[in-house]
Amino acid sequence: MRRVGALLAAGILAGGLIATQDQASALENGVARTPPMGWNSWNTFGCNISETLIKQMADAIVNSGLRDLGYKYVVVDDCWFNPTRDSSGNLQGNPSRFPSGMKALGDYLHGKGLKFGLYEVPVDKTCAQYFNSYSGATGSQGHEVQDARQFAAWGVDYLKYDWCSPNGTITDQVNTFAKMRDALAATGRQIVYSINPNSIHSKTGPQRNWGDVANMWRTTEDITNKWDTGQTNGYPMGIQNIVNVTIPLASYAKPGAFNDPDMMEIGRGGMNDTEMRSHFALWAMMASPLIAGNDIRNMDSATTTILKNQNLIAINQDSLAQQARQISNDGTRRVLAKNLSNGDVAVALFNQGGSTTTISTTASAVGLSGGSFTLRDAWSNGTSTSTGTISASVPAHGTVVYRVSGGATASPSPSASPSVSPSASPSVSPSASPSVSPSASPSPSATPTGGQPGGCVATYKVINDWGSGFQSEVTVSNNGSSTLDGWTVKMTLAGGQSISSLWNGVNTGTSGAVTVKNAAYNGTIAANGSTTFGYTANGSGSAAPTGVTCTSP
Ligand code: GLA
Repeated sequence: MRRVGALLAAGILAGGLIATQDQASALENGVARTPPMGWNSWNTFGCNISETLIKQMADAIVNSGLRDLGYKYVVVDDCWFNPTRDSSGNLQGNPSRFPSGMKALGDYLHGKGLKFGLYEVPVDKTCAQYFNSYSGATGSQGHEVQDARQFAAWGVDYLKYDWCSPNGTITDQVNTFAKMRDALAATGRQIVYSINPNSIHSKTGPQRNWGDVANMWRTTEDITNKWDTGQTNGYPMGIQNIVNVTIPLASYAKPGAFNDPDMMEIGRGGMNDTEMRSHFALWAMMASPLIAGNDIRNMDSATTTILKNQNLIAINQDSLAQQARQISNDGTRRVLAKNLSNGDVAVALFNQGGSTTTISTTASAVGLSGGSFTLRDAWSNGTSTSTGTISASVPAHGTVVYRVSGGATASPSPSASPSVSPSASPSVSPSASPSVSPSASPSPSATPTGGQPGGCVATYKVINDWGSGFQSEVTVSNNGSSTLDGWTVKMTLAGGQSISSLWNGVNTGTSGAVTVKNAAYNGTIAANGSTTFGYTANGSGSAAPTGVTCTSP
């Protein structure tokens, strides 16, 4: 925050560029624009891991077709490390389990078109060390910067960072998790930051929106392969128990920030096929990271069918990145709706009871207007038509999901209002905006004076500055009354600065005069809406760019 003060002193800069204080130190690191998908070693293998196992799993993820459906992150959980650091304090892979070293494992995964994830903790002992099932005390406490650099050097793309301590207030947790957030950002490598504030701790996961700290945060205690353990938020959690905690947190989900209801138990027994399907459907609807936890080398066909359901994966990976909001819940029949980028709405009819029942809602209740709709059943892939009723007979613990198209997306229904504040605005723009013809917006935004009413305004801030490099975020706001269809920001970087990576935009030039145009998915900005792009650059971040203009065609 110190260097933000310096920027603020610069005040309002030329061409609509405004420096503002970075209030919440938001994490906007360019990754996890949709929920991360992959596999994690813990649920099936616990501490019994090795490079041979991880490589076999990587091969199976590729050969099964899962990689090509999006399952890219291979996350090596607890027990990968040598119980002691080297003489310089560096983490090392366990030499007998990972004899080729962690960099070699990362290279192997990258060579397969996969991404590399590792587990660590912000305290002194990892969870396995805390419970004495693994020796040593190799947590990152006091080593944050060194460990982040090590992860980056190994090619790590995803860090799972697990509190695993009864100590610390929620404020301590925020500050401590933020240390590693900043250390990761300082490496310049794009790394998904996945945190768990809950293990052996009071359950702080659902107590705040952790999107300022991490890309994904566990909402509950650890999952197990049971439908219902009777827990509210204690060890171990069943599917129904996790869903109960996570549904009310829907408004937190957005690109780069997701509630994490834990790694999936599909294919691990303990539940019937209906429950396994429900588990996957609910995770898809909740915009949850889809991290498989089963042995991919030995999947039965039922498991394969579930994990490879492309309708549900598409719903989960939709670019709006919204989590389904609750439409209704009578204790047995629970209805959820997730807005999708093309204006469709995914509707889940979830039967929490012990016997088959009919669950119904309407198109208008899920925010669609009009009189004719097509319903695609995510499991059968069959379609039906409706004039408004959305209904199905659903078996005990089952979830029917329809992708509803037709009509027009209205604003989310009033019942959703408590949970729609941050996430609702992007959803309205793509689907609602066709009514605003491009010709209706010869807005003054075309002038390069970006700060005028009706124009786009670029607001610049430095998120992180580590002397030899820095990370910036530019907010592109539409302060006019018409939708912006596309935007271009021009700016001149200070001497010595050069962009090494840029996200949520397409840049021409990396130093001096740079032009950034919108990405394919964030060109449309509704009136009073905004979007952001960010970049990491070499050089000192103390000087802001000059000559900034923001225009819209
Ligand atoms: C905690 C986490 C689990 C797993 C174990 C590893 O319990 O919640 O997901 O990482 O630690 O010891």
